Amino acid sequence: MSTGLGVRNPEVPKEQITVNPNTGQKTVRMGDLEFPPRKVWMKTFGCQMNYHDSERILSHLTDLNFTRTDKVDDADMVLFNTCAIRDLSNNKFYSQLGEMKHAKKKKEDLVVGIGGCVAQTEGKELVKKYKHLDFAFGTDVIDQINDMVFRTYSGDNKFTINSWDRSENFSIETKITHGSPQAFVNIIKGCNKYCTYCIVPYTRGKERSRKKAEVIEDVRKLVEYQGIQEVTLLGQNVNSYGHDNGETLSELIMGLEEINGLQLIRYTTSHPYDVSDELIAVHGTSKKLSNHLHLPVQSGSDGVLKRMHREYTIEHYLGLLEKLRKSNPNIVLSTDIIAGFVNETDEEHRMTLDLLDKAQYDFIYSYAYSMRNNTRASKMEDLLTDDIRGERLREIQKYQLGIQAKIREKLVGNQYRILVEGYGNMGGVKKWRGRTNCNRIVHFLPSSDEQDLQWNWVDVKVTSATALSCQGDLLEVHGRRYPTSK
Ligand code: SAH
Ligand code: SF4
Ligand code: F3S
Repeated sequence: MSTGLGVRNPEVPKEQITVNPNTGQKTVRMGDLEFPPRKVWMKTFGCQMNYHDSERILSHLTDLNFTRTDKVDDADMVLFNTCAIRDLSNNKFYSQLGEMKHAKKKKEDLVVGIGGCVAQTEGKELVKKYKHLDFAFGTDVIDQINDMVFRTYSGDNKFTINSWDRSENFSIETKITHGSPQAFVNIIKGCNKYCTYCIVPYTRGKERSRKKAEVIEDVRKLVEYQGIQEVTLLGQNVNSYGHDNGETLSELIMGLEEINGLQLIRYTTSHPYDVSDELIAVHGTSKKLSNHLHLPVQSGSDGVLKRMHREYTIEHYLGLLEKLRKSNPNIVLSTDIIAGFVNETDEEHRMTLDLLDKAQYDFIYSYAYSMRNNTRASKMEDLLTDDIRGERLREIQKYQLGIQAKIREKLVGNQYRILVEGYGNMGGVKKWRGRTNCNRIVHFLPSSDEQDLQWNWVDVKVTSATALSCQGDLLEVHGRRYPTSK
């Protein structure tokens, strides 16, 4: 039995599913309760881990006869998967939760639940405060979602479950409901780093890794039975994967490499302190590992890094980039930056601009520092104003766009094989888009308007590139399986 994301209560009856052979209608019974077909609307905030958790929650809910809807007005149950990383994500959630009050007035039996990082730390208070909120659940109990929904429909609502799963083993099976050939696979949960600004160790708990053999078997099944061709190994700090079991990320990648039919392996997110020489070597030797690496630096100043408790210096960090580029000359790098950390001086801020010059990132995610309650940084006296943080953030973004434009103009003329992820309307024309192995999005025109290229592998040639977007010409369509002969 899987353990690691909440053990189900043995006293709660299990789902009994029957399908009427004539009508195809599914009936689900749990104890005395019958679950007719219902609709769930789910809104996810935050990082890829949260999106991954939402998939898992929705997959469990199908066993209770729920199907997903995009229309909140059609929903019988509304779930929010929340993020606590910055004020901005918090605020968006609170305003949407407020709106549900009116929705519940219109539809009395509407069930409203919240999960994720805000629910982990503040669930109890929120359930008390918002009369229209039925239940809250934390990040480590998502495999108990059906027990919680059963409890709500039994009339016992207004509860919070946010306990930590104490099992020694983190053992799960990936659950996906989408039909795409890309899958996220959670290999490690939690974070032991305690960067002084960050809430994640408090919302996601202690690090626990899945066993290498289990992950490889999980991915093999995804490839064989669900047509997965690309996996992204997921964790808050995937570089410390396996520390608890005497295994390593490099060994895992080399193990996954052997799986026939798997084309591309990505991993996210990395902490620079834990990037080993062995892993750097794998970036050179692995044939399936992506040519892109996201390596969050946070600041270009050693003083700030120290106050953030990041455990590396800029010299060490730049040394890593150099070694990575030597190991794989095609590697494309990106990062995260926090502008205006507690008491950051002008000079420290300029060191971040200087780092951008030296590192030559393909793109960055940048954020103004946002104070999070209970973190160590929240206890430091902070003299910097939000205006200065905003100004510095804009300066960082503008500076990086200049660097990025120069890197990207060199892409013109290059040919890439991409996996088509979707299409959009660009200036009134329908353009498809796909992602290169090195994680750049290329937009291109189909041969005809009717051509359906979703999840096809295609070759494109880049015709123009700006800092933020890349346009290409379609050269060849290979179909939904990666062409083996070329
Ligand atoms: N575990 C990952 C991701 C953490 S959250 C990592 O270590 O890289 C993603 C990013 O959010 C972080 O890299 C950081 O740049 C940013 N972030 C985290 N806490 C923040 C805060 N309090 N204020 C502003 N940005 C923050
Ligand atoms: Fe947060 Fe640091 Fe852990 Fe990343 S490594 S999740 S920034 S504490
Ligand atoms: Fe947000 Fe939690 Fe992810 S705080 S960034 S959803 S781990």
